[in-house]
Amino acid sequence: MFDDRRENYIQRALYDFEMVLREQVDRADKMKDGGFYHCCDINKGITVGLAGGDGIGPVIMSQAEKLLEKLLHEEIKSGKFTIKKIEGLTIENRKALGKSVPDDVLAEIKECDVLLKGPTTTPKGGKLESANVTLRRELDLYANIRPVSVPSEGIDWTFFRENTEGEYALGSRGIEIPGRLTMDFKVTTELGTRRIARAAFDFAKANGKNRVAIVTKANIMKKTDGMFSEICHEVAAEYPGIEAEDWYVDIMAANLLNKDIRNQFQVFILPNLYGDIITDEAAEIQGGVGTAGSENLGDKYAMFEAIHGSAPRMVEEGLAEYANPSSIFKAAEMMLRQIGFTDKADKLSKALHICCEEEKKLVVNGTSEGAKCSEFADYVMSKL
Ligand code: IPM
Ligand code: MG
Repeated sequence: MFDDRRENYIQRALYDFEMVLREQVDRADKMKDGGFYHCCDINKGITVGLAGGDGIGPVIMSQAEKLLEKLLHEEIKSGKFTIKKIEGLTIENRKALGKSVPDDVLAEIKECDVLLKGPTTTPKGGKLESANVTLRRELDLYANIRPVSVPSEGIDWTFFRENTEGEYALGSRGIEIPGRLTMDFKVTTELGTRRIARAAFDFAKANGKNRVAIVTKANIMKKTDGMFSEICHEVAAEYPGIEAEDWYVDIMAANLLNKDIRNQFQVFILPNLYGDIITDEAAEIQGGVGTAGSENLGDKYAMFEAIHGSAPRMVEEGLAEYANPSSIFKAAEMMLRQIGFTDKADKLSKALHICCEEEKKLVVNGTSEGAKCSEFADYVMSKL
């Protein structure tokens, strides 16, 4: 039976692969070696989209909304800062419509200046793409920037995760020979690599950093990671005084646990999947994935979010109200800084520092022994 259909399966898979390849070459053709996120005009008024997401998303996002309302009370009153709630980015709606980001939701998001987004649930297997992957692609948010710091240890890391390519871009487009094998693809483009490398080196230069770690597995993934590393080095040559060093992702995972050397790392550039994994590890060192925020930037759009997912396990165990809002608060801080509300970002940063580093009167640890999300949020807001 299988043998009869074997050739059909192979032909079908070849056709699917050809489509993927042609699409990716088209994407690479159209890609521009552009600039970087151009900030909106603060004087014209800013509209911030808020999307709650799934699982613990609505719990932490409702606190983020309260926080923004408190912090920007005057600006909201005067129309300088508008909050626009984006509904419909829920897993229920996305599943019902069979669309990872429904068209009307995407259109609404594009009308906002920036988006602050709660985590969204991605079903395992099946065809529905992760909403994150869709948004990052549709808005071309190629730089996922994730800072992690542990001041007591001298750790000050900034991760530049490539956000539109790698395994993620084609993770829902794999091929299958039923009963025999499955195959997924990974894609890396020259310009796609160049632009994330440039973002990282520009950041290093502007912030007085002199070491950039290029993290790949180029000894094994010879084409994709090989080119990624090569292009990062080409870009590095434009930045004298900044040392670019190659690390394989496995040993980098170990380095981050090595207290003798880890505080010497400064800036990291990583392809998408390694960036996903290593930034969760880094966040755990900082105090947990619930403590890290991230910005997703492209040339035109910007999206800010926690680095973690929707934590369905916490919801199942009835622990959603114990979720840590720090991650989304940090994302909100990055957003305020990016859109030009620097003084508000500083205020929030200070409040977070008092609550998470200095006083630590309340600690959220994701269990019923820790503080609740709302209690911790009130604590932070009391310090604004
Ligand atoms: C992240 C998250 C997402 C990712 C999930 C929620 C799809 O883990 O932003 O790191 O894998 O990119
Ligand atoms: Mg992740």
